[in-house]
Amino acid sequence: MAAEFNHVHKEAQSAATAKRKGEHIRICLEEQVVAEGIATGLDNVRFRHRALPELAFDSISLESEFLGKKIGTPLMVSSMTGGTAEAGEINRRLAEAAQQHGWAIGLGSMRAAIENERLASTFQIRSYAPDVPIIANLGAVQLNYGYGIDQCRKAVDLAEADGLVLHLNSMQEVFQAEGDTNFSNLLGKIEQICRSLDVPVGIKEVGWGIDGDTAQSLMSVGVAFIDVAGAGGTSWSQVEKYRSSDTMKRLAAETFADWGISTADCIADIRAKAPTARIIGSGGLLHGVHAAKAIALGADLVGFGRALLPRAAVTEEGEIWEEALHDQFRRIAFELKAAMFGIGAGSIEELQHTTRLVK
Ligand SMILES: Cc1cc2nc3c(=O)[nH]c(=O)nc-3n(C[C@H](O)[C@H](O)[C@H](O)COP(=O)(O)O)c2cc1C
Repeated sequence: MAAEFNHVHKEAQSAATAKRKGEHIRICLEEQVVAEGIATGLDNVRFRHRALPELAFDSISLESEFLGKKIGTPLMVSSMTGGTAEAGEINRRLAEAAQQHGWAIGLGSMRAAIENERLASTFQIRSYAPDVPIIANLGAVQLNYGYGIDQCRKAVDLAEADGLVLHLNSMQEVFQAEGDTNFSNLLGKIEQICRSLDVPVGIKEVGWGIDGDTAQSLMSVGVAFIDVAGAGGTSWSQVEKYRSSDTMKRLAAETFADWGISTADCIADIRAKAPTARIIGSGGLLHGVHAAKAIALGADLVGFGRALLPRAAVTEEGEIWEEALHDQFRRIAFELKAAMFGIGAGSIEELQHTTRLVK
C-alpha cells in the first residue's frame, strides 16, 4: 500500500515538474521576462578601439578549456531545459549546434528525470554532442528535500556529463506556489557533494547573480566553478509572475523585477576577491561583444540562455529554425573574434588581460 502510494505520489510529482518545464519555455518565448530597472552592466563598459591591432584576423584563437576538455570557443549554452518531449527536442538541437561550433552545454534541472526515469532521454544529448563538455544540473535546495550524492551521481550518469552544476534560485522558489524555500545549511551539503562526486561540481545562479564573498565561501568548500548568472537578463520573478494564480504573489513578484547583482558587477567582484576562481559570465548576454566584455572583466567562459531559445524551439506555426540557430552560434563567435581584432587580442588569455576595457 505504502509502495503504491509512493509510486502514485512520484508520478504526480513528475507530471507537475514536466508541466512547469513546459510553462517555463512558453513564458520565456512569449512574455516580457527581462529584468526591469536593472541592466547587465555590460553596456556601461566599452572597448577602446585599437587602429593598429598588429595581428592577422585569421590568427585569432578562441580556443578554451573546460572540465578537462578543449573546446573551440569560450562559449556555453546555459542550463535550460529537459523533461518534456519539446524540451528534449530543444536539447537535441542545442547539443548539435554546441558540438558543431565548439561550445560547452548545460542541461536544465534534471529533477524530472530523477523522479521519472522515462523522462531521462530528454536529457541524453551525449550522442549529439560527443566531444564537448556537458554539464548536468540540479537545484542545490533539493539537498534539503531528500536529495544527496545518489541523486547527483544519477544525474551525471544519465547525462554522461563532465560536471554537475547545482543552481541557487531562492528568489524563484519563493514566488512559486509549489516552491521549496528551505535554503538553510546548504553550504555543508554542497561541500559533501563536492567531496564525493567523481566529476567537478559548480554553482550557478539563475539570474540574480553571485557576489565575490559568496563565491569565496563556495570555493572554500570545493566548488570548481562559479556561473554568475547575473541580473539584467531573464528574471525568474518575472517568469513566475506569469505562472502564478495567487494575486498577492503575482504583485509581489513584480516588485522584484529589478532585484539582483548585475552580471558585470558579479564578474568583477568575484575576479577581485577570488583571483583563482573559474568564472562563467552569464545573465542577459545577447551577442559576441557582450561575451568579449564579460571575458575582459574576468570571466573564463561565457553563457547564453534565453537568447538561444527562440531558434532552438518549435514556433507556434510548427516551424523549426535549425539553420538560424547555427547562424546564431556562428555570429556570436564571429562577433567575439571581431571584438578581439578591434583591440588586438590574439587569444582568450590576452582578452582577459586587456587594458582596453573602459567605463
Ligand atoms: C527556459 C529556461 C529554463 C531554465 N531552466 C533552468 C534550470 O532548469 N536550471 C538552471 O540552473 N537554470 C535554468 N535557467 C536559467 C538559465 O540557465 C540562466 O541562468 C538565466 O536564464 C539567465 O541567463 P539569460 O539572461 O541569458 O537567460 C533557465 C532559463 C530559461 C530561459
